[in-house]
Amino acid sequence: MISIVSIADRPDLVPVTGKWRWEAFFKDEMSLDEMLRLEQECASSSELMPTVLVMLEGEYPVGMIALCLDDLEGRPDLNPWLAGVYVDPRYRGNGYALRLIEELEGLARNQGIKRLSLYTGNATGLYHRAGWAMTETVQRKGRPYSVMQKNL
Ligand SMILES: CC(C)(COP(=O)(O)OP(=O)(O)OC[C@H]1O[C@@H](n2cnc3c(N)ncnc32)[C@H](O)[C@@H]1OP(=O)(O)O)[C@@H](O)C(=O)NCCC(=O)NCCS
Repeated sequence: MISIVSIADRPDLVPVTGKWRWEAFFKDEMSLDEMLRLEQECASSSELMPTVLVMLEGEYPVGMIALCLDDLEGRPDLNPWLAGVYVDPRYRGNGYALRLIEELEGLARNQGIKRLSLYTGNATGLYHRAGWAMTETVQRKGRPYSVMQKNL
């Protein structure tokens, strides 16, 4: 059975989501220890942003997604953001990323957020499937990324 929980309610999942995020997105920018410290701060926050959601298959964590206020330096006009989409390689191709995206959109909509942004290097196809539109290309640390948005 699939369920989705927040690390605010399940801080025991911080080592899992912190390691996923570090391996997929932050390996070149910080140490694993630093990432785990930031992830713990997310779990301790009582604010809507950041929120980190984890998909469980039974009790086993299989994927994650995050809602955050600010994800791209110098572009506060694009806030807030969907970020940190990750599915364990063994569980990919089952629609889990799409389910996580839908869940996060629903959470944001229920909290009165009208529009979300994201940026991605190579997964525009995934977000197109979820109804997101590409709005511009940006450079980050010398690499091109697509910015995408969705009205909720
Ligand atoms: C990208 C990722 C989250 C996809 O997870 P997943 O659970 O396998 O995705 P889903 O099964 O929900 O895919 C849904 C649809 O999106 C498509 N899709 C998935 N990943 C895609 C990608 N990287 N590029 C283009 N399309 C993609 C799938 O083909 C599927 O389409 P279909 O239903 O027409 O076959 C996963 O591969 C991952 O964690 N990658 C490493 C981290 C990463 O790159 N995250 C995204 C960064 S913005």
